[in-house]
Amino acid sequence: MPMPKEQFLNAMRFLAASVSVISAKDSSGKPYAMTASSVTSLTIDPPAILVCVNNGASIHDALVENANLCISILNKTQQEISNICSLKNMESRRFKNDFWDTSDTPFIKNAQSNIFCKVDETVAYHSHKIVIAKVLRAENADIFNTLMYADGGYLD
Ligand SMILES: Cc1cc2nc3c(=O)[nH]c(=O)nc-3n(C[C@H](O)[C@H](O)[C@H](O)COP(=O)(O)O)c2cc1C
Repeated sequence: MPMPKEQFLNAMRFLAASVSVISAKDSSGKPYAMTASSVTSLTIDPPAILVCVNNGASIHDALVENANLCISILNKTQQEISNICSLKNMESRRFKNDFWDTSDTPFIKNAQSNIFCKVDETVAYHSHKIVIAKVLRAENADIFNTLMYADGGYLD
């Protein structure tokens, strides 16, 4: 008997996660960004990280092998940019604000951490692509103030 989706979704509501925004430019230089809670540390040797990206997300096709991407772990003051990067109807306005530095690989200024990566491998799995990226460098805040999401909302 297949597992009821409701049971799975309810279990996932209890899986508290940090909120990140992943960002990249495509081969023509157009920037893309998406809010993601699926960012996970993968290995330390090599330093590698993974993120799961829905096939329908606008950033999806920019995340090909050797593409540069940044994973900005958001802090608690950056809920607005999380909303901008997770609402489909905000796509055209994602970079029309002061949150960004887009001079090279786009990243969110003053994020908790900015983790600059290069895509190493991608694995297609049903509705999503698992993006495995090698970490090139990271810039970190001094104190912990990470924005968290669980039970259908942001945590205080
Ligand atoms: C807190 C939070 C976490 C999310 N995590 C993911 C994720 O890990 N992977 C994913 O594909 N979509 C995730 N989403 C949904 C995308 O941000 C959303 O579908 C976005 O609109 C897709 O980008 P697009 O508008 O450019 O197509 C998350 C949304 C929120 C609010």
